[in-house]
Amino acid sequence: MRKTYLVTGGAGFIGSNFIHYLLKKYQDILVVNVDKLTYAGNLENLSEVMNDKRHFFVQADICDQQAIEKLFIEHKIDYVVNFAAESHVDRSITDPDVFVRTNVMGTLNLLNIAKTHWKTGDDTYRKGVKFQQVSTDEVYGSLGLEGFFTETTPLDPHSPYSASKASADLFVKAYYDTYKFPMNITRCSNNYGPYQFPEKLIPLMINNCLNKKSLPVYGDGLQVRDWLYVEDHCKAIDLVLRNGRIGEVYNVGGHNERTNIFVVKSIIDYVSKQVDSTVSEKLIKHVTDRKGHDRRYGIDPTKIKEELGWEPETTFEEGIKLTIQWYLEHKEWMDHITSGSYQHYYEQMYGNR
Ligand code: NAD
Ligand code: TYD
Repeated sequence: MRKTYLVTGGAGFIGSNFIHYLLKKYQDILVVNVDKLTYAGNLENLSEVMNDKRHFFVQADICDQQAIEKLFIEHKIDYVVNFAAESHVDRSITDPDVFVRTNVMGTLNLLNIAKTHWKTGDDTYRKGVKFQQVSTDEVYGSLGLEGFFTETTPLDPHSPYSASKASADLFVKAYYDTYKFPMNITRCSNNYGPYQFPEKLIPLMINNCLNKKSLPVYGDGLQVRDWLYVEDHCKAIDLVLRNGRIGEVYNVGGHNERTNIFVVKSIIDYVSKQVDSTVSEKLIKHVTDRKGHDRRYGIDPTKIKEELGWEPETTFEEGIKLTIQWYLEHKEWMDHITSGSYQHYYEQMYGNR
């Protein structure tokens, strides 16, 4: 049966990777891609599929009731995969309001419209439909040296970003609890790979290394993130969408914990050996720590592994090489994205260095 996906935020990092993944894996699908094209949205991420008849792009805001409703009227949407979000913690610290608007109100708008259009009776919905909320492990807060986040770890967000994602998760869950609305939530660890905007740690460090700019490491650099290659995340979302039990949360991550300083040094090592031998650890600059900085994230993926057979396939060592190579082969992508407002953002964050 042909499935129609409404993918929100499909011009961003993970959303565009997910669309590429879907179009490669499935022949008979339609992807309606709705994205507001904020600073983080980039149609260049989709240049290979813009002429593919199975992909249809609409520039719109997920908070816009009329625009989203129109898509449900014009297409028989089976799946909503909600990637659209303000996604950067540092921006949420300086400007929290837009995070609440998009991440919370936008999700609520999508839930209301999907519920109305999918409803067939009291708490019943058209067969085969599902709403998937793409969430983050950051909703669980921060870990100490030991232990991992499971799906039952209490939510304890610390940044305005993670607070807005936790709020959205709670609305999605409440729609299941109250209306039996068919949903899943996936909570994934830090992603990296092609098309990631260079405000996030890995592409920022790659870009700065290639331009011999200083590498701003927050605080002592010993914070830990559980890194997942983006394609592994896309596989998990696809599996949960197709086979996940309705109403369930699935954590996604794969025991790829690394300190930030290790990640930065790995990038320096690769670039100095493969690209430019003058790049060295001298570029590292420890800068003022992020406010409320979460120390450690780590996912326990037992549930998704046991129920759906998902496991990460790309190790950090392989993934970081693939990622650096991708950025080396797509210098024009980086040049386009770092011109204009990015330059202004970067100078505000780190000064002109
Ligand atoms: P991103 O910032 O690269 O992309 C977000 C996309 O959403 C952009 O294309 C942007 O234009 C679009 N968007 C923003 N506001 C919108 C609005 N009001 N209406 C329509 N479109 C809008 O983010 P990403 O890293 O690709 O993350 C995608 C999702 O995955 C987010 O929900 C994020 O919370 C979640 N997530 C990200 C990570 C990660 O490591 N990047 C990890 C776990 C979960
Ligand atoms: P980031 O990529 O912003 O993801 P998140 O905050 O969602 O985990 O940051 C990853 C880690 O890297 C986080 O601990 C903050 C740190 N970091 C730096 O040390 N320097 C930087 O320039 C950036 C952007 C992040």
